[in-house]
Amino acid sequence: MKTRVLPAGDAAICEAASVIRSGQLVAFPTETVYGLGANGLDSEAVSRIFEAKGRPGDNPLILHISRADQLRPLIAGEPSELARRMMDAFWPGPLTMIFPKSACVPPEVTAGLDTVAIRLPLHPVARKLIAAAGVPIAAPSANRSGRPSPTAAAHVLEDMDGRIPMILDGGACAVGLESTVVDMTGTAPRILRPGGVTAEQVERVCGSGEVDPAVMRPLAEGERPRSPGMKYRHYAPSGDLTIYEGGEGDVIAAISAAYDRALAEGRRPLIFALDRHLAAYGARRVESLGADEAAMAHRIFAVLRDADALGADVLFSEAVEARGLGLAVMNRLGRAAAFHIVEV
Ligand code: TXA
Ligand code: MG
Repeated sequence: MKTRVLPAGDAAICEAASVIRSGQLVAFPTETVYGLGANGLDSEAVSRIFEAKGRPGDNPLILHISRADQLRPLIAGEPSELARRMMDAFWPGPLTMIFPKSACVPPEVTAGLDTVAIRLPLHPVARKLIAAAGVPIAAPSANRSGRPSPTAAAHVLEDMDGRIPMILDGGACAVGLESTVVDMTGTAPRILRPGGVTAEQVERVCGSGEVDPAVMRPLAEGERPRSPGMKYRHYAPSGDLTIYEGGEGDVIAAISAAYDRALAEGRRPLIFALDRHLAAYGARRVESLGADEAAMAHRIFAVLRDADALGADVLFSEAVEARGLGLAVMNRLGRAAAFHIVEV
């Protein structure tokens, strides 16, 4: 299959919508990361997503809508008072909410669960595409399963060339990491994946914003996660990644020593560090994580992809303070490192 990359003008969006309606896949930009979309009401089209990504069949997808009034037919019952407040505060935007599903959502979307994840994105291309397709669009991040999520059309092409017919190129994604996934089926919201909307923001709106403990640790043997996505190693570069946590000076010293040891063993090490620490590593090979939380969110997946392009086979990263957007950055780093975190 030939993969076409089209600048996301109105004519291209229109063509993409007809590709979606015909049961095929289109990768498209959102404000978080690029999505790999299919008609969310068509089981066969949805199955193609799993094939193209190599995604495990038990990991459910998010349905994307273009207007809040498209939510009701997809869920069982009315949204709760809390869910309404969340919608008012964060939609359109990087928030995905989990509801009990209605009968019209195919089991392929929810991987057989009785709940469904729904998001109303902010990106104008995403919304025009959904509106033109006239159906909710099921879309995971447009990476091959296990790879960092794509934040530019070139990343999608790297992973999906020859596997999908079309990529809409809308430039770089503003947020740079995925939406916050919040389970709204209980009496209080529970954050299953930190993302563009912070736990602090959820707490301000709902009075509580509990983060599921599995967000920052590996699952125990046999543990059943609340979100199937928690089970899988994600975002991983090819090289082994270790995160160092502790006082600034201690972390820099420990990473420098580990780097020098790796180099002496003939390996190709690379360091991920906060902007303000770059100089402290001297002549060692360092990639900047960014200057602040928003910059780190924006860069993290490109940094993980770059590590492969640079041929690094062992990676050392500074920890990021797990607060605000930093929690989401640390969750992605932690998962990329299979939660191999060293306290110094
Ligand atoms: O920002 C985003 O959310 C992007 C853009 C394209 O919208 N999409 C995205 O989709 O990140 P994906 O498939 O890569 O991640 C969806 C996450 C997975 O971890 C999945 O397990 C979880 O949401 N999820 C989906 N449906 C669920 C459900 N019913 N219950 C619990 N978790 C669910
Ligand atoms: Mg993903």
